[in-house]
Amino acid sequence: MLPGSLGHWWRNKFSMRWQQTCLLACWLSLCAADSLFTCPSSCQCNSGSLEVDCSGLGLSSIPSDIPTNTRIFLFLNNKLSTLPGPVFSNLSALQRLDLSNNFLDQLPQNIFSDLGNLTELQLRNNSIRTLDKDLLQHMALLRQLDLSINGLAQIPSGIFDDLPALRLLSLRSNRLHSLDRVTFEPLVSLQQLQVGDNPWECDCNLREFKHWMEWFSYRGGKIDQLACTLPKELKGKDMRMVPMEMFNYCSQLEDENGSVVLDNSGPPCTKGSPTPSKSKSGPEPEVEPSVGCPQKQKYRPVSVRRAIGTVIIAGVVCGIVCIMMVVAAAYGCIYASLMAKYHRELKKRQPLMGDTEGEHEEQKQISSVA
Ligand SMILES: *[C@@H]1O[C@H](CO)[C@@H](O)[C@H](O)[C@H]1NC(C)=O
Ligand SMILES: *[C@@H]1O[C@H](CO)[C@@H](O)[C@H](O)[C@H]1NC(C)=O
Ligand SMILES: *[C@@H]1O[C@H](CO)[C@@H](O)[C@H](O)[C@H]1NC(C)=O
Ligand SMILES: *[C@@H]1O[C@H](CO)[C@@H](O)[C@H](O)[C@H]1NC(C)=O
Repeated sequence: MLPGSLGHWWRNKFSMRWQQTCLLACWLSLCAADSLFTCPSSCQCNSGSLEVDCSGLGLSSIPSDIPTNTRIFLFLNNKLSTLPGPVFSNLSALQRLDLSNNFLDQLPQNIFSDLGNLTELQLRNNSIRTLDKDLLQHMALLRQLDLSINGLAQIPSGIFDDLPALRLLSLRSNRLHSLDRVTFEPLVSLQQLQVGDNPWECDCNLREFKHWMEWFSYRGGKIDQLACTLPKELKGKDMRMVPMEMFNYCSQLEDENGSVVLDNSGPPCTKGSPTPSKSKSGPEPEVEPSVGCPQKQKYRPVSVRRAIGTVIIAGVVCGIVCIMMVVAAAYGCIYASLMAKYHRELKKRQPLMGDTEGEHEEQKQISSVA
């Protein structure tokens, strides 16, 4: 009896101790986690998902004490207008960055260069008017990029060269009037492109991009409406629905310009880009020829090639006709000189004959020779 109750008491005591130790350990570990993930004052944080949310606080600068292991940083609806260069340099673990609904107008070239883990970048509804060509380098994992509702008038070519994982790109509601096909070719994973609500000018400059859009749709990509603003007769029409024949005049313009360009800088261009197919297949096309040579050199549509073929054939036919005409003229000359000689000899041989008879005889002779 007694030993049994003693054992029971010991067991109770032991389990209480165990519970206390456990509580202490839990409290300590919580403390440790908190000290590793200290939330910047007035922001809200979730230490489980490593998220820092400083949205809607009227802030005009980014807090400097963001934990370095932050994965998600939300900074929407603030008054941010400039970003000092190294502001994100300690946040290499960042996966999602949202700076939407601020007043950013310019982004320093290296601002995102340390964010190699970033998969989502939201810059919606700012005042960005220009982008640096090198802004998005070293972002091999980026899958979503939202640049909608800004003041972009053009997209520099080469800016998307290092985004092999990008799936969603929004350029909606900007001031774009034209896009370059070469800029979009490196986006091999792109699935959705939003280009609506821009003042598109559906002229020769957009023709190559139309080709790219058709290829992109064929590949299964989604693209929203690209409605023309200019020219007047295409206003409101979707560029993809405008038949390609509407742009036939472009290749004629190119031909006219092409001959002028070749006269000015023919030799370096033809040396710089030996085979057009080679320069197209490479992911990084050589910079040199594209700088020195017109775009036309790189990509020549079928109709232009056909036109060149026609010119060559016409030239050959003309040449043959010319040669035949020269031969005929030479034959005529020789014939005439022979006749003159014959005529003179005839006159020498029959000096006593009458003029009319002589002429008659002569004509007979000529007709028999002929
Ligand atoms: C980054 O971290 C280093 C060392 O922890 C610190 O000296 C530096 O000021 C930090 N930079 C920024 C922009 O917070
Ligand atoms: C854009 O941001 C401004 C100020 O940040 C806000 O007032 C406006 O409602 C936003 N517009 C859209 C379409 O989100
Ligand atoms: C990605 O984040 C991990 C930590 O989560 C870090 O060690 C690594 O350096 C980051 N990679 C890049 C490219 O920044
Ligand atoms: C040649 O191209 C320029 C633009 O590069 C254009 O403004 C001009 O009208 C073109 N000229 C002809 C004759 O096509």
